[in-house]
Amino acid sequence: MTTLGILLWGVLPYVTLAVLIGGTLWRYRYDQFGWTTRSSQLYESRLLRIGSPLFHFGILVVIVGHVIGLLIPESWTTAVGLSEAAYHVQALVLGTVAGIATLGGTAILIYRRRTSGPVFMATTRNDKAMYVVLVAALVAGLVTTLLGAGVVGEEHNYRATVSPWFRSVFTLQPDVEAMGAAPLSFQVHALIGMLLFAVWPFTRLVHAFTAPVGYLFRPYVVYRSRAHGAASRPPRPGWGPPGP
Ligand code: HEM
Repeated sequence: MTTLGILLWGVLPYVTLAVLIGGTLWRYRYDQFGWTTRSSQLYESRLLRIGSPLFHFGILVVIVGHVIGLLIPESWTTAVGLSEAAYHVQALVLGTVAGIATLGGTAILIYRRRTSGPVFMATTRNDKAMYVVLVAALVAGLVTTLLGAGVVGEEHNYRATVSPWFRSVFTLQPDVEAMGAAPLSFQVHALIGMLLFAVWPFTRLVHAFTAPVGYLFRPYVVYRSRAHGAASRPPRPGWGPPGP
């Protein structure tokens, strides 16, 4: 294995994990008030109502696909009677549908940021950089799915290369040879994925670490009904407004 290969597949994953975990702890410690999606629902909600669920439900399926494809060894799925060919057909169909839904949702959310004045004004440089890395990860992922399944070019069984490498990172014995044997498209996708994980704690994506399931079903901004307004609320100790 070349020095570059060792750096990319044997060192970089740990740098990424250190930045992801360290960055998240740092943000939790020093920026709890900034730990938010910085919701823009108050500025525009029509496009948000379409783009946001499309993106979030799509990415949930993509995450489940990654957990199955990367963490569950091929021998296990074979043992329960799922052949390699059948596995790849379902991965291709589900992965492509979920990937396109996620990318479509992202496209609507970016269009909304660009065309709705107040939302555009509330968009920071940090958001724009995050969107670039996110879209790059999604596009590269879809490309690997199509290339890996042999829709374009030669078929590749990533569960013999990428997946063993991914698992080996967590057993602290990175199998750099395995990842080195994966096609370039898979390597590029994994590198962009690691970049996204490294910037994660420093962007609005950090909200995903806060009860992500609840986020799918609750309003973007939590409103307080009149019945529970300040007038009817008993004074709160300490941090609330002064009592009567
Ligand atoms: C180091 C981290 C990652 C690795 C090793 C990895 C690996 C893979 C592999 C092997 C595939 C092909 C799946 C198949 O054909 O069945 C894939 C697809 C995909 N990846 Fe990743 N990925 C990583 C991170 C990410 C991240 C952070 C995102 C997005 C935020 C992402 C989005 C996608 C998408 C949209 C697809 C295509 C749809 C799908 O198969 O789910 N990946 N990835």
